Amino acid sequence: MPANKKLLLLPGDGIGPEVMREVRRVIDWMDRKRRVTFELSEGLVGGASLDATGEPITSETVTRALAADAVLFGSVGGPKWDHLGFALRPEIAILTLRRELGLFANLRPAIVLEPLVNASSLKPEIVRGLDIMIVRESTGGIYFGEPRGIEDLPDGTRRGVNTEVYTTTEIERVARVAFDLARQRLAAGKGGKLCSVEKANVMESGLLWRQTVTALHARDYPEIELSHMYADNCGMQLVRNPRQFDVIVTSNLFGDLLSDLAAMLTGSLGMLPSATLGAPDSAGRRHALYEPIHGSAPDIAGRGIANPMAQMLSFAMLLRYSFDMEEDASLIERACTNVLASGLRTADIMVPGAAKVGTSVMGESVMREMDKLAA
Ligand code: IPM
Ligand code: MG
Repeated sequence: MPANKKLLLLPGDGIGPEVMREVRRVIDWMDRKRRVTFELSEGLVGGASLDATGEPITSETVTRALAADAVLFGSVGGPKWDHLGFALRPEIAILTLRRELGLFANLRPAIVLEPLVNASSLKPEIVRGLDIMIVRESTGGIYFGEPRGIEDLPDGTRRGVNTEVYTTTEIERVARVAFDLARQRLAAGKGGKLCSVEKANVMESGLLWRQTVTALHARDYPEIELSHMYADNCGMQLVRNPRQFDVIVTSNLFGDLLSDLAAMLTGSLGMLPSATLGAPDSAGRRHALYEPIHGSAPDIAGRGIANPMAQMLSFAMLLRYSFDMEEDASLIERACTNVLASGLRTADIMVPGAAKVGTSVMGESVMREMDKLAA
Protein backbone atom coordinates (compact mmCIF):
# COMPACT_ATOMS: atom_id res chain seq x y z
CA MET A 1 0.00 0.00 0.00
CA PRO A 2 1.55 3.34 -1.00
CA ALA A 3 2.09 5.52 2.05
CA ASN A 4 0.93 8.73 0.45
CA LYS A 5 -2.50 8.97 -1.04
CA LYS A 6 -3.30 12.04 -3.01
CA LEU A 7 -6.76 13.40 -2.32
CA LEU A 8 -8.39 16.35 -3.98
CA LEU A 9 -11.16 17.92 -1.90
CA LEU A 10 -13.76 19.93 -3.81
CA PRO A 11 -16.20 21.25 -1.19
CA GLY A 12 -18.21 23.41 -3.60
CA ASP A 13 -21.17 25.48 -2.48
CA GLY A 14 -23.84 25.71 0.17
CA ILE A 15 -23.35 23.17 2.95
CA GLY A 16 -20.46 21.55 1.02
CA PRO A 17 -17.66 23.37 2.88
CA GLU A 18 -19.13 22.83 6.35
CA VAL A 19 -19.73 19.10 5.94
CA MET A 20 -16.31 18.73 4.31
CA ARG A 21 -14.76 20.20 7.48
CA GLU A 22 -16.02 17.17 9.41
CA VAL A 23 -14.35 14.83 6.92
CA ARG A 24 -11.07 16.62 7.52
CA ARG A 25 -11.31 15.47 11.13
CA VAL A 26 -11.65 11.87 9.96
CA ILE A 27 -8.65 12.32 7.67
CA ASP A 28 -6.61 13.75 10.57
CA TRP A 29 -7.68 10.80 12.67
CA MET A 30 -6.51 8.37 9.99
CA ASP A 31 -3.20 10.24 9.68
CA ARG A 32 -2.65 9.90 13.43
CA LYS A 33 -3.90 6.37 13.99
CA ARG A 34 -3.12 4.56 10.78
CA ARG A 35 0.03 4.06 8.78
CA VAL A 36 -1.49 5.81 5.79
CA THR A 37 -0.92 9.49 5.16
CA PHE A 38 -3.12 11.55 2.95
CA GLU A 39 -1.74 14.33 0.86
CA LEU A 40 -4.57 16.83 0.65
CA SER A 41 -5.26 19.61 -1.73
CA GLU A 42 -8.40 21.63 -2.19
CA GLY A 43 -10.03 23.21 -5.23
CA LEU A 44 -13.04 25.25 -6.27
CA VAL A 45 -16.09 23.93 -8.11
CA GLY A 46 -19.58 25.15 -8.92
CA GLY A 47 -20.63 28.60 -7.78
CA ALA A 48 -17.45 29.04 -5.76
CA SER A 49 -15.45 28.54 -8.94
CA LEU A 50 -17.80 30.74 -11.00
CA ASP A 51 -17.29 33.59 -8.52
CA ALA A 52 -13.51 33.23 -8.54
CA THR A 53 -12.84 32.36 -12.19
CA GLY A 54 -16.03 32.81 -14.21
CA GLU A 55 -16.21 29.07 -14.94
CA PRO A 56 -18.00 26.26 -13.02
CA ILE A 57 -14.73 24.30 -13.11
CA THR A 58 -11.37 25.30 -14.59
CA SER A 59 -9.16 23.05 -16.70
CA GLU A 60 -6.52 23.43 -13.99
CA THR A 61 -8.90 21.83 -11.46
CA VAL A 62 -9.68 19.03 -13.92
CA THR A 63 -5.94 18.43 -14.34
CA ARG A 64 -5.52 18.20 -10.58
CA ALA A 65 -8.44 15.77 -10.38
CA LEU A 66 -6.79 13.62 -13.04
CA ALA A 67 -3.58 13.55 -11.00
CA ALA A 68 -5.28 12.68 -7.70
CA ASP A 69 -5.78 9.13 -6.41
CA ALA A 70 -9.33 10.07 -5.47
CA VAL A 71 -11.60 13.11 -5.48
CA LEU A 72 -13.95 13.95 -2.64
CA PHE A 73 -16.68 16.24 -3.91
CA GLY A 74 -19.12 18.27 -1.80
CA SER A 75 -22.09 19.78 -3.58
CA VAL A 76 -22.69 22.60 -6.03
CA GLY A 77 -25.34 25.16 -6.90
CA GLY A 78 -27.55 27.76 -5.29
CA PRO A 79 -29.97 30.58 -6.14
CA LYS A 80 -27.09 33.02 -6.58
CA TRP A 81 -26.07 31.29 -9.83
CA ASP A 82 -29.50 30.24 -11.12
CA HIS A 83 -29.77 33.12 -13.58
CA LEU A 84 -26.56 32.20 -15.43
CA GLY A 85 -26.89 30.57 -18.84
CA PHE A 86 -27.03 26.83 -19.49
CA ALA A 87 -23.26 26.54 -20.06
CA LEU A 88 -22.47 28.27 -16.77
CA ARG A 89 -24.60 26.19 -14.44
CA PRO A 90 -22.66 25.08 -11.36
CA GLU A 91 -23.76 21.48 -12.19
CA ILE A 92 -21.45 21.59 -15.21
CA ALA A 93 -18.62 20.98 -12.73
CA ILE A 94 -19.77 17.50 -11.85
CA LEU A 95 -20.72 16.60 -15.43
CA THR A 96 -17.28 17.76 -16.62
CA LEU A 97 -15.49 15.70 -13.99
CA ARG A 98 -17.51 12.60 -14.87
CA ARG A 99 -16.70 13.06 -18.55
CA GLU A 100 -13.04 14.09 -18.27
CA LEU A 101 -12.14 11.42 -15.72
CA GLY A 102 -14.20 8.76 -17.53
CA LEU A 103 -16.28 8.08 -14.42
CA PHE A 104 -18.90 5.85 -15.99
CA ALA A 105 -20.14 3.83 -13.02
CA ASN A 106 -22.05 5.72 -10.39
CA LEU A 107 -22.64 3.59 -7.28
CA ARG A 108 -25.54 4.78 -5.16
CA PRO A 109 -26.34 2.67 -2.13
CA ALA A 110 -29.69 3.01 -0.36
CA ILE A 111 -29.36 1.58 3.11
CA VAL A 112 -31.83 1.82 5.96
CA LEU A 113 -29.94 1.90 9.24
CA GLU A 114 -31.94 0.46 12.08
CA PRO A 115 -31.85 3.64 14.22
CA LEU A 116 -33.44 5.51 11.29
CA VAL A 117 -36.05 2.95 10.29
CA ASN A 118 -38.83 5.38 11.24
CA ALA A 119 -37.38 8.21 9.14
CA SER A 120 -38.79 6.69 5.95
CA SER A 121 -42.17 7.79 4.68
CA LEU A 122 -42.84 4.09 4.07
CA LYS A 123 -43.84 1.72 6.86
CA PRO A 124 -40.91 0.26 8.85
CA GLU A 125 -41.91 -3.29 7.90
CA ILE A 126 -41.40 -2.39 4.21
CA VAL A 127 -37.97 -0.78 4.58
CA ARG A 128 -36.37 -2.39 7.64
CA GLY A 129 -32.94 -3.78 6.73
CA LEU A 130 -33.06 -2.38 3.19
CA ASP A 131 -29.63 -2.55 1.58
CA ILE A 132 -29.59 -2.02 -2.17
CA MET A 133 -27.06 -0.65 -4.61
CA ILE A 134 -27.99 1.26 -7.73
CA VAL A 135 -25.31 1.32 -10.40
CA ARG A 136 -26.06 4.20 -12.71
CA GLU A 137 -24.23 4.68 -16.00
CA SER A 138 -22.85 8.22 -15.79
CA THR A 139 -20.89 9.25 -18.88
CA GLY A 140 -23.31 8.33 -21.64
CA GLY A 141 -26.95 8.23 -22.57
CA ILE A 142 -29.14 11.26 -23.03
CA TYR A 143 -26.94 13.48 -20.84
CA PHE A 144 -24.17 13.48 -23.42
CA GLY A 145 -25.72 12.10 -26.64
CA GLU A 146 -25.57 14.00 -29.93
CA PRO A 147 -27.40 15.64 -31.59
CA ARG A 148 -28.47 17.98 -28.85
CA GLY A 149 -29.47 21.60 -28.65
CA ILE A 150 -32.26 24.09 -29.14
CA GLU A 151 -32.92 25.25 -32.69
CA ASP A 152 -35.15 27.82 -34.34
CA LEU A 153 -37.65 26.44 -36.82
CA PRO A 154 -38.68 28.29 -40.00
CA ASP A 155 -42.19 28.85 -38.63
CA GLY A 156 -40.79 30.81 -35.69
CA THR A 157 -41.26 28.01 -33.13
CA ARG A 158 -38.30 26.23 -31.55
CA ARG A 159 -37.21 22.65 -31.08
CA GLY A 160 -35.19 21.10 -28.23
CA VAL A 161 -33.30 17.87 -28.87
CA ASN A 162 -31.45 15.34 -26.75
CA THR A 163 -30.43 11.87 -27.80
CA GLU A 164 -30.23 8.62 -25.88
CA VAL A 165 -27.26 6.65 -27.26
CA TYR A 166 -25.51 3.60 -25.87
CA THR A 167 -22.85 1.41 -27.45
CA THR A 168 -22.32 -2.19 -26.44
CA THR A 169 -18.95 -1.17 -24.96
CA GLU A 170 -20.59 1.40 -22.69
CA ILE A 171 -23.30 -1.02 -21.61
CA GLU A 172 -20.91 -3.87 -20.99
CA ARG A 173 -18.43 -1.97 -18.84
CA VAL A 174 -21.08 -0.60 -16.48
CA ALA A 175 -22.88 -3.95 -16.35
CA ARG A 176 -19.57 -5.57 -15.43
CA VAL A 177 -19.18 -3.24 -12.46
CA ALA A 178 -22.71 -4.16 -11.34
CA PHE A 179 -22.18 -7.91 -11.83
CA ASP A 180 -18.91 -7.70 -9.88
CA LEU A 181 -20.69 -5.95 -7.00
CA ALA A 182 -23.42 -8.60 -7.03
CA ARG A 183 -20.71 -11.24 -6.94
CA GLN A 184 -19.01 -9.59 -3.94
CA ARG A 185 -22.34 -9.34 -2.15
CA LEU A 186 -23.03 -12.99 -2.90
CA ALA A 187 -19.66 -13.89 -1.38
CA ALA A 188 -20.46 -11.71 1.64
CA GLY A 189 -23.71 -13.58 2.16
CA LYS A 190 -26.04 -10.78 1.19
CA GLY A 191 -27.85 -10.84 -2.12
CA GLY A 192 -26.15 -11.79 -5.34
CA LYS A 193 -28.93 -10.61 -7.63
CA LEU A 194 -28.79 -8.09 -10.44
CA CYS A 195 -31.79 -6.31 -11.92
CA SER A 196 -31.12 -4.54 -15.22
CA VAL A 197 -33.47 -1.66 -15.91
CA GLU A 198 -34.39 0.00 -19.25
CA LYS A 199 -37.35 0.59 -21.53
CA ALA A 200 -36.70 -2.15 -24.08
CA ASN A 201 -40.39 -2.01 -24.94
CA VAL A 202 -40.12 1.46 -26.51
CA MET A 203 -36.41 2.31 -26.98
CA GLU A 204 -33.88 0.62 -29.24
CA SER A 205 -31.08 1.69 -26.92
CA GLY A 206 -32.97 -0.13 -24.16
CA LEU A 207 -33.34 -3.25 -26.30
CA LEU A 208 -29.60 -3.25 -27.01
CA TRP A 209 -29.00 -2.73 -23.29
CA ARG A 210 -31.06 -5.81 -22.46
CA GLN A 211 -29.39 -7.96 -25.13
CA THR A 212 -25.90 -6.89 -24.07
CA VAL A 213 -26.47 -7.50 -20.36
CA THR A 214 -28.04 -10.89 -21.12
CA ALA A 215 -25.04 -11.95 -23.22
CA LEU A 216 -22.53 -10.79 -20.62
CA HIS A 217 -24.42 -12.71 -17.94
CA ALA A 218 -24.31 -15.94 -19.91
CA ARG A 219 -20.65 -15.46 -20.74
CA ASP A 220 -19.11 -14.37 -17.43
CA TYR A 221 -21.59 -14.30 -14.54
CA PRO A 222 -23.81 -17.39 -14.67
CA GLU A 223 -23.94 -17.65 -10.86
CA ILE A 224 -25.63 -14.25 -10.54
CA GLU A 225 -29.41 -14.20 -10.65
CA LEU A 226 -30.22 -11.71 -13.43
CA SER A 227 -33.61 -10.14 -14.03
CA HIS A 228 -34.80 -7.36 -16.34
CA MET A 229 -37.35 -4.69 -15.57
CA TYR A 230 -38.85 -1.71 -17.36
CA ALA A 231 -37.88 1.54 -15.68
CA ASP A 232 -41.44 2.63 -14.87
CA ASN A 233 -42.19 -0.70 -13.24
CA CYS A 234 -38.91 -0.45 -11.32
CA GLY A 235 -40.04 2.88 -9.87
CA MET A 236 -43.26 1.25 -8.75
CA GLN A 237 -41.56 -1.85 -7.36
CA LEU A 238 -39.06 0.24 -5.40
CA VAL A 239 -41.94 1.80 -3.51
CA ARG A 240 -44.06 -1.37 -3.29
CA ASN A 241 -41.42 -3.81 -2.12
CA PRO A 242 -37.88 -2.37 -2.21
CA ARG A 243 -36.25 -5.36 -0.54
CA GLN A 244 -36.86 -7.53 -3.62
CA PHE A 245 -33.80 -5.75 -5.10
CA ASP A 246 -30.12 -6.27 -4.47
CA VAL A 247 -28.07 -4.56 -7.19
CA ILE A 248 -29.74 -2.53 -9.95
CA VAL A 249 -27.96 -1.41 -13.11
CA THR A 250 -29.42 1.23 -15.36
CA SER A 251 -28.81 4.15 -17.72
CA ASN A 252 -27.79 7.68 -16.80
CA LEU A 253 -31.26 9.25 -16.86
CA PHE A 254 -33.22 6.35 -15.36
CA GLY A 255 -30.52 6.01 -12.73
CA ASP A 256 -30.81 9.69 -11.86
CA LEU A 257 -34.53 9.27 -11.17
CA LEU A 258 -34.47 5.85 -9.56
CA SER A 259 -31.55 6.65 -7.26
CA ASP A 260 -33.34 9.71 -5.88
CA LEU A 261 -36.40 7.56 -5.35
CA ALA A 262 -34.38 4.83 -3.65
CA ALA A 263 -32.56 7.41 -1.52
CA MET A 264 -35.84 8.72 -0.23
CA LEU A 265 -36.90 5.21 0.81
CA THR A 266 -34.36 5.64 3.57
CA GLY A 267 -35.99 8.93 4.57
CA SER A 268 -32.64 10.54 5.08
CA LEU A 269 -30.92 12.11 2.10
CA GLY A 270 -28.42 13.60 4.54
CA MET A 271 -27.10 10.11 5.19
CA LEU A 272 -26.36 8.78 1.72
CA PRO A 273 -22.95 8.67 0.02
CA SER A 274 -22.06 7.74 -3.54
CA ALA A 275 -19.05 6.72 -5.59
CA THR A 276 -18.35 7.24 -9.28
CA LEU A 277 -15.67 5.04 -10.76
CA GLY A 278 -13.71 4.91 -13.99
CA ALA A 279 -12.10 1.92 -15.66
CA PRO A 280 -9.14 0.31 -13.88
CA ASP A 281 -5.77 0.63 -15.67
CA SER A 282 -3.31 -2.26 -15.98
CA ALA A 283 -2.07 -1.60 -12.42
CA GLY A 284 -5.66 -1.69 -11.12
CA ARG A 285 -5.78 2.06 -10.45
CA ARG A 286 -8.91 3.89 -11.44
CA HIS A 287 -10.12 7.46 -11.34
CA ALA A 288 -12.83 7.86 -8.73
CA LEU A 289 -14.98 10.58 -7.26
CA TYR A 290 -17.03 10.39 -4.08
CA GLU A 291 -19.89 12.68 -3.16
CA PRO A 292 -22.97 12.77 -0.98
CA ILE A 293 -26.32 12.28 -2.72
CA HIS A 294 -27.73 15.43 -1.16
CA GLY A 295 -27.36 18.81 -2.81
CA SER A 296 -25.91 22.07 -1.56
CA ALA A 297 -29.02 22.89 0.55
CA PRO A 298 -28.59 26.69 0.23
CA ASP A 299 -31.51 27.26 2.62
CA ILE A 300 -29.52 25.95 5.59
CA ALA A 301 -25.97 26.72 4.40
CA GLY A 302 -23.66 28.42 6.88
CA ARG A 303 -25.88 27.75 9.87
CA GLY A 304 -23.93 24.81 11.22
CA ILE A 305 -26.97 22.50 11.23
CA ALA A 306 -26.33 20.32 8.18
CA ASN A 307 -25.88 16.59 8.60
CA PRO A 308 -22.21 15.74 7.87
CA MET A 309 -22.76 11.98 7.72
CA ALA A 310 -23.30 11.59 3.97
CA GLN A 311 -20.01 13.37 3.34
CA MET A 312 -18.25 11.28 6.00
CA LEU A 313 -19.75 8.10 4.57
CA SER A 314 -18.61 9.18 1.11
CA PHE A 315 -15.10 9.23 2.54
CA ALA A 316 -15.73 5.70 3.85
CA MET A 317 -16.65 4.62 0.31
CA LEU A 318 -13.45 6.30 -0.90
CA LEU A 319 -11.40 4.19 1.50
CA ARG A 320 -13.22 1.04 0.36
CA TYR A 321 -13.22 1.48 -3.41
CA SER A 322 -10.07 3.51 -4.05
CA PHE A 323 -7.73 2.13 -1.40
CA ASP A 324 -9.18 -1.24 -0.48
CA MET A 325 -9.30 -0.16 3.18
CA GLU A 326 -12.43 -2.12 4.05
CA GLU A 327 -11.72 -2.20 7.77
CA ASP A 328 -11.45 1.55 8.14
CA ALA A 329 -14.42 2.12 5.84
CA SER A 330 -16.63 -0.06 7.98
CA LEU A 331 -15.22 1.55 11.13
CA ILE A 332 -16.56 4.93 9.97
CA GLU A 333 -19.88 3.35 9.01
CA ARG A 334 -20.25 1.61 12.35
CA ALA A 335 -19.31 4.79 14.20
CA CYS A 336 -22.07 6.68 12.37
CA THR A 337 -24.65 3.99 13.15
CA ASN A 338 -23.67 3.92 16.82
CA VAL A 339 -23.89 7.69 17.16
CA LEU A 340 -27.41 7.56 15.72
CA ALA A 341 -28.31 4.67 18.00
CA SER A 342 -27.16 6.77 20.96
CA GLY A 343 -29.92 9.24 20.09
CA LEU A 344 -28.07 12.13 18.44
CA ARG A 345 -29.77 13.66 15.43
CA THR A 346 -29.19 16.60 13.12
CA ALA A 347 -32.29 18.59 12.18
CA ASP A 348 -32.93 16.68 8.93
CA ILE A 349 -33.43 13.38 10.78
CA MET A 350 -34.72 14.75 14.08
CA VAL A 351 -37.38 12.73 15.92
CA PRO A 352 -39.17 13.44 19.20
CA GLY A 353 -37.09 12.32 22.17
CA ALA A 354 -33.74 12.52 20.33
CA ALA A 355 -31.03 15.07 21.08
CA LYS A 356 -30.74 17.64 18.32
CA VAL A 357 -27.15 18.59 17.49
CA GLY A 358 -25.39 20.63 14.82
CA THR A 359 -22.81 19.72 12.22
CA SER A 360 -19.68 19.91 14.35
CA VAL A 361 -21.09 18.11 17.41
CA MET A 362 -22.22 15.33 15.08
CA GLY A 363 -18.75 15.18 13.53
CA GLU A 364 -17.03 15.16 16.93
CA SER A 365 -19.34 12.41 18.16
CA VAL A 366 -18.44 10.22 15.20
CA MET A 367 -14.75 10.81 15.96
CA ARG A 368 -15.20 9.85 19.60
CA GLU A 369 -17.02 6.70 18.54
CA MET A 370 -14.21 5.84 16.12
CA ASP A 371 -11.74 6.19 18.99
CA LYS A 372 -13.83 3.78 21.05
CA LEU A 373 -14.28 1.23 18.29
CA ALA A 374 -10.59 1.30 17.37
CA ALA A 375 -9.40 1.02 20.98
C1 IPM B 1 -27.02 13.75 -9.62
C2 IPM B 1 -27.46 15.13 -9.98
C3 IPM B 1 -26.75 15.52 -11.26
C4 IPM B 1 -27.23 14.59 -12.34
C5 IPM B 1 -26.92 16.98 -11.68
C6 IPM B 1 -26.48 17.91 -10.57
C7 IPM B 1 -26.19 17.28 -12.95
O1 IPM B 1 -28.85 15.19 -10.08
O2 IPM B 1 -25.82 13.54 -9.43
O3 IPM B 1 -27.88 12.87 -9.53
O4 IPM B 1 -28.32 14.77 -12.92
O5 IPM B 1 -26.51 13.64 -12.64
MG1 MG C 1 -29.83 13.46 -9.49
